[in-house]
Amino acid sequence: MEVRALAFGRLQLATPLLLSPLAGYTNLPFRLVIREVGGVGLCTTDLVNARSLLEKNRKALKLIETSALDTPLAVQLFGSVPEEMVAATKMLEEIGVASVDVNMGCPVRKVCQVGGGSAMMTELGRTSALVRRMVEAVKIPVTCKMRLGWDDDNLTAPDLARALEEVGVAAIMVHGRTRQQGFEGRVNLAGIRRVVEAVRTIPVIGNGDITTPEAARVMLEATGCHGVSIGRGAFYNPWIFSHTQHYLLTGELLPEPRFAERVKVMSRHLDLMVEVFGEALGCTMFRKVGPWYAKRFGPASFFNKGIVKIGTRDDYHTLLAAYITWREQFLDGEGNLLPKFSPQPHALNFRHEGEDEDTPAVAKREKILVPSGPQELW
Ligand SMILES: Cc1cc2nc3c(=O)[nH]c(=O)nc-3n(C[C@H](O)[C@H](O)[C@H](O)COP(=O)(O)O)c2cc1C
Repeated sequence: MEVRALAFGRLQLATPLLLSPLAGYTNLPFRLVIREVGGVGLCTTDLVNARSLLEKNRKALKLIETSALDTPLAVQLFGSVPEEMVAATKMLEEIGVASVDVNMGCPVRKVCQVGGGSAMMTELGRTSALVRRMVEAVKIPVTCKMRLGWDDDNLTAPDLARALEEVGVAAIMVHGRTRQQGFEGRVNLAGIRRVVEAVRTIPVIGNGDITTPEAARVMLEATGCHGVSIGRGAFYNPWIFSHTQHYLLTGELLPEPRFAERVKVMSRHLDLMVEVFGEALGCTMFRKVGPWYAKRFGPASFFNKGIVKIGTRDDYHTLLAAYITWREQFLDGEGNLLPKFSPQPHALNFRHEGEDEDTPAVAKREKILVPSGPQELW
């Protein structure tokens, strides 16, 4: 298919494929892994509290830690005090961040109670006034990420997107579910399409349940969105960006990376975790990262039991060697997984125009898991 160039204001992106913010996961090591594997146009940090950033809170500064190879980078802010959001945006521009994204989708009570996250979707006037001040304070693009609305009776995303375009927002990211839905049900493609139709010129980025290149294409074609943003799908499969880019350009699906390649990238991920967070913390944090790679290894109970205990890089390599031996029982003579042990790709999880939640999905779907973490309620 024709892949349109994607730009946020003057920020030209190499591909229309973005890494969604995943609090607790989209840290510097993960972003670097994604960039090394290739195909991603823009990576975004976890959401960062604007006030904490201004107070130079150690944890907030760690969330925006970056490096020369980590570009272009968007930082996602949340907050509802205009002065703080403006000052934090200026600070991010000064340190060279490529764009600032405003979180309007976070359903977590702590964030909504102070008028941030998805609460912003319910107050169009106040929200667009706040964002206008951010846009006017900097030259870098300001973007907004939202859900379709609070619930099915309040699908405010199209109106909000239009209002935000008027105050100068450079792009809208929209997850095709409501706040009330959480991660249940299917992604509503018609809902995303309404956002695309509501704005005049700015790009809309579709998001939700993209775990395969085909799903990205369906999202682009069915909604008319200008790009897609991928969160959990990148966690399952860091190759999703390069494979999707290839598929969009050529129509050809690349074969899944082989086990050895997956292990290589997983080990690189651990090395980067240790580099950025130190060995003890890096290994502890990796305990929840390893099992995501393992979802594509075939049988992995041995690996999953061991990974949650690693405390050093040596522990990891000892476990990996033992796991590789254990896994041999599931292989054929050529070292490939026997078909009955091969993981299946996810079926599409979209709701098309005219369908409601009760319309049966075409294929039986394996649930797309929601990673646990500091934001239990995303
Ligand atoms: C563990 C987790 C953390 C998330 N953190 C954020 C966040 O910090 N900011 C945000 O806007 N969305 C956040 N999201 C939502 C994702 O960015 C994305 O909109 C959602 O997961 C749907 O896309 P996906 O199906 O590709 O994952 C989070 C989602 C999960 C599962």
